Amino acid sequence: MKARAKYQTWIRIRKLLIFLVISVILLIVTLLPINLYLRVLSGFLSLPFIYIAFLLSYSVYQFATFGGNYQSKIHDLIVAKVIWDGEGKILDIGTGNGSLIIKLAKTFPNSVLTGIDYWGENWEYSKAQCQQNAEIEGVNERIHFLKASASELPFNDDEFDIVVSCLTFHEVKDRRDKTEVIKEALRVLKPGGVFVFLDLFMDENIFGDEKELINNIKKHGISELNSSKLAEEIKLPKLLLGKKVLGNAMIFDGRK
Ligand SMILES: C[S@@+](CC[C@H](N)C(=O)[O-])C[C@H]1O[C@@H](n2cnc3c(N)ncnc32)[C@H](O)[C@@H]1O
Repeated sequence: MKARAKYQTWIRIRKLLIFLVISVILLIVTLLPINLYLRVLSGFLSLPFIYIAFLLSYSVYQFATFGGNYQSKIHDLIVAKVIWDGEGKILDIGTGNGSLIIKLAKTFPNSVLTGIDYWGENWEYSKAQCQQNAEIEGVNERIHFLKASASELPFNDDEFDIVVSCLTFHEVKDRRDKTEVIKEALRVLKPGGVFVFLDLFMDENIFGDEKELINNIKKHGISELNSSKLAEEIKLPKLLLGKKVLGNAMIFDGRK
């Protein structure tokens, strides 16, 4: 049987399991023949855990290929924004299990691609899985996967024709100011090159004021910058539009 690529969703299964297990334990306590006060307390305490476990499970279902397939659809949206002749180099920052970069490799058969990721222990992605996925999809010869941090890219200025990134800048822990991480991504893009960044840019706690963020990026040698809310670009199920899921997601695309 032909092996299938494993992309995983953006929801960590470990995290989901923790909330599920705590919910079940608290619910079991409510059924035990113990002090009524403790049983009621346990019942109340279980409510937020049940809600989060439900939200995480629902998100897994909607993001996965066996459900709504929204993760793949969102990557398709990013690929569609790459208006390009296809000759040259692409960089994907925070490549995860390689889903987006593999789509780009298939769309642009003459391109040479690099996917970087920190692949920290708290994520369920790995370089080995990226390489295996690329091999299964028949594009491994053109994609190079590299462990590096988005905060300090191991590339020269103006090296890539295309730079993309999906839901990664907000995760970068080794730079407090996330605008600096965006500037680092733009540093390695050639003048005239195309960038497409999707992230939780509307979350003020992470990226600060949205207008200020856009002005800051514009000052960084950008000739064109378009911004749009993800929810305006693709119809998403209502629960995915919560602030804790994709409610703050925006796409910045343009040219250096
Ligand atoms: C929500 S996942 C998105 C993965 C992938 N872009 C996708 O759309 O499927 C966030 C990714 O950011 C990566 N990441 C976290 N900190 C990073 C850093 N400092 N440098 C590069 N990647 C990082 C994680 O390993 C993870 O793969």
